[in-house]
Amino acid sequence: MSGPFLASAPGKVLLLGEHAVVYGEPALAAALPRRLQVKLWPDEGGPLIDIEGGTVPPPELTQAFEGLCAAAGAPHARYRVRISSEIPLGGGLGSSAALGVALARAVCAATNQECPPQRAAELALALERVFHGAASGVDPAICARGGILLFQRGDLAPTKSSAGEPVIEPVFASGPFGLVVAQTGRQRGTRSTVLPLRERRAERPHLYDPLIRQLGDLATGGKLALEKGDLVELGVRFDAAHGLLGALGVSCPELDQCVASLRAAGALGAKLTGAGGGGAAIGLARDGEHAAQIAQRLQSLGASAFAVTLGGEPGGQKGASERASEAAPRKASTRTPGRRRATAIAHANIALTKYWGKRDEALLLPEASSLSLALDKLRTRTTVELGAPEDSLLLDGKPASAKEVSRARSLLDAAGIHEKAAIESHNEFPTAAGLASSASGFAALAVAACAAAGLKKSTAELSALARLGSGSAARSVPGGWSVWRDETAEQVFPPSHWDVRMVVALCAAGPKEVGSRDGMKLSKETSPYHAAWIAQCERDLPEALKHLAARDLDALGALAERNALRMHADALAAAPPLLYWQPATIGCLKQLARLREGRVRAWATIDAGPHVVALCTPDDAIAVADALRVVPGVQAILSCAPAGAAHVVEPDPE
Ligand code: DP6
Repeated sequence: MSGPFLASAPGKVLLLGEHAVVYGEPALAAALPRRLQVKLWPDEGGPLIDIEGGTVPPPELTQAFEGLCAAAGAPHARYRVRISSEIPLGGGLGSSAALGVALARAVCAATNQECPPQRAAELALALERVFHGAASGVDPAICARGGILLFQRGDLAPTKSSAGEPVIEPVFASGPFGLVVAQTGRQRGTRSTVLPLRERRAERPHLYDPLIRQLGDLATGGKLALEKGDLVELGVRFDAAHGLLGALGVSCPELDQCVASLRAAGALGAKLTGAGGGGAAIGLARDGEHAAQIAQRLQSLGASAFAVTLGGEPGGQKGASERASEAAPRKASTRTPGRRRATAIAHANIALTKYWGKRDEALLLPEASSLSLALDKLRTRTTVELGAPEDSLLLDGKPASAKEVSRARSLLDAAGIHEKAAIESHNEFPTAAGLASSASGFAALAVAACAAAGLKKSTAELSALARLGSGSAARSVPGGWSVWRDETAEQVFPPSHWDVRMVVALCAAGPKEVGSRDGMKLSKETSPYHAAWIAQCERDLPEALKHLAARDLDALGALAERNALRMHADALAAAPPLLYWQPATIGCLKQLARLREGRVRAWATIDAGPHVVALCTPDDAIAVADALRVVPGVQAILSCAPAGAAHVVEPDPE
């Protein structure tokens, strides 16, 4: 056995029948075109599990993994496992079942065993039980098989299955349809809704059983509606199911709000999906384009939502079906033979104590150190293919300028990569206008280029490399809460250290007039306050780190706001003056001050542009978003959570 062994599995949504499925009713489940991947190596010191991006694995995971290895016939095997995921972890979208299936596949591959879907689902169920207690088995079944399924547990429906095995029917939708997944951002374990409902039902079966049966009927009818392509009927069933789930007591105000927003944005029907009490809601759309429009509308309201296409081909029943044993990296469909390629994702970051001034213009070395947080919804995905006939760079599908291509080339040269490169970069920002980030772009480029070239570089080396593209990109490589000192940035706390929100208020459309590079140079050369500003930054950073370690929002917020205003004071004092603000910028600053007079604690930071980013708690994020949205001139709101490090998503298969 050598390794590493790579395996993956998709996330899932329950279209209909959640909760009822625990009591033997059918549920309609669909695999999501978003995957979780594991990489597994033999390691004497194992089991060691880590999650890319810095999320701390739950303590029970190691034990559950050992149980899975034992069930797979490898009780004494010692492994190290690295998890990376396109599915939000703990967000009600099947991440634990996908993890179980992917681990089952990887362990079977490492021990030379077949892993057909049924076995993967069985092995994953053990892991699932650790996280969810009374698991019905629907999640591992759909994550192992893919596509769309009608699932009924066999142990509670013995007339339908003699051996107590679940009854699983693949569902063939008559054509593609769209789905919008809206996330509440509130994590709730399945245990916290499934077990209390079990108690309520035990006390009043006459009240709850008819509701549970009706949810099962909605799922059975939902299958027929999908097969006929009757999306209006399916939408009505979504709405009815949400009402019934509310009556069972498993919804919550955040989910009801998501469902209302999905309906208001034009969904054909909407409901919570999965366990409820937090997690996600889904809205039905006519097709992928309709789903994308709805998702965009929600995003512009500050909600976290994404659109997918299910059913039909490709990406539907056939496209999303799982192969019998998927234990190898997926290859990119558009690969050119003989070329080497890799894809990486990096998040933009916002500085809490800023970088504004270089001590070395050519090497992009900062005069003062800075502290930042990576933001989950602002991410760039970049693919680098080496061995191309000439250098090329596509930014969001459009050819980049010669200057931009040469900036990318300098970064590759600095990495010792002299082959020509075809680079494609997409800003996956919900509201594109005004938020394009060179930080996430250069971080993703550095990571993808080195992966494509097979160069094994440390995070510090990759950070130093990204810095050569744009200073702040150094901080997007380690992600989380990171400090950039001199040549490289390092993560000082993982994203999980402190769950805050950064509510971004877009205060103007279009690019800023003077970019950061020219702006900071002009400030350094002409502002009489510049030396004082740099001296202040040296004092601010250690203080900010102290408040961050103590998770003291009031102290860190006030310090970050002061730091940003002082940076702008430096810029305003330049000749000619640099005024980055719009009226809406000041409106937002005043609005946040007003909020603080009440009970809502939120502080602003502002980069070299008009947009205001408010630091607050997750509980206050909606109030902050609502308050900023009504400031005249604010164009859109986006609420972001902490994100992790830049990482490769599609390893070079050669
Ligand atoms: C105001 O990293 O964009 O956002 O190094 O010249 O590419 P270059 O500048 P850039 O500057 C960012 C400045 C800032 C503050 C910050 O992010 O720290």
